Amino acid sequence: MSAVLGVSTLSEVGWGAAWLPISWTLVLLAAVLLYVHATRRGKFLVWEDLLGELGLQGHERLLDLGCGRGAVLLAAARCLPQGRAVGVDLWRSVDQSGNAQNTTRRNARAEGVSDRVNLYTGDLRCLPFGDSEFDVVLSSLAIHNIKDARERRQAVVEAVRVLRPGGRLVLVDIGRSAAVYERALGSLPVIEAGIRSVGWRMWWGGPWLRTHVVTATRATP
Ligand SMILES: C[S@@+](CC[C@H](N)C(=O)[O-])C[C@H]1O[C@@H](n2cnc3c(N)ncnc32)[C@H](O)[C@@H]1O
Repeated sequence: MSAVLGVSTLSEVGWGAAWLPISWTLVLLAAVLLYVHATRRGKFLVWEDLLGELGLQGHERLLDLGCGRGAVLLAAARCLPQGRAVGVDLWRSVDQSGNAQNTTRRNARAEGVSDRVNLYTGDLRCLPFGDSEFDVVLSSLAIHNIKDARERRQAVVEAVRVLRPGGRLVLVDIGRSAAVYERALGSLPVIEAGIRSVGWRMWWGGPWLRTHVVTATRATP
């Protein structure tokens, strides 16, 4: 019957010919599952750990570079009952759907942290803040959106500029970008700079597109 219809069953084709499409389907399915897990859950779990590692006292001034709708900013704000969580962004919807300052403000209200959150419109390459204003500067998946390599480096220079001596820097980004930030830190006034993978929870489809975190402490003069 299948021959009449021009359709081959698995037993007619044989497993030998079928394993390749089946394997590819399984790889594709695993890639989709990993991607969805990274966006919906993995990113949040990784940042929970990174914020925990900072050992925040609760009164710090923290800056999130490219905060978008606030996934990381609002998680940080929950750790800062007497502090400030400041987000800066250009609110580019091409980088995150539904990206708008009002959306982030609404999300902060829904999370019950709007009393300690401030939002600014600004460019990471030229931050609208003075030197040494923040105890912690962090960024999640934002700096790689700056296309020019020299301008990405400038964003790292700016991140260090607004950090107070002894303040902590945490930059999380995708692919090879984080290695560029670590190299940029080599000529900046920081100590204890390091880079590591954040693990499978932020694999964007598989180990071929991983996420790294760069950490450093601003040197004291
Ligand atoms: C992929 S989203 C990440 C948002 C958020 N940090 C998160 O992890 O959910 C990248 C963000 O970087 C912002 N962005 C890109 N280039 C920027 C620039 N030059 N200055 C400020 N923000 C920028 C975008 O508007 C967007 O909100």
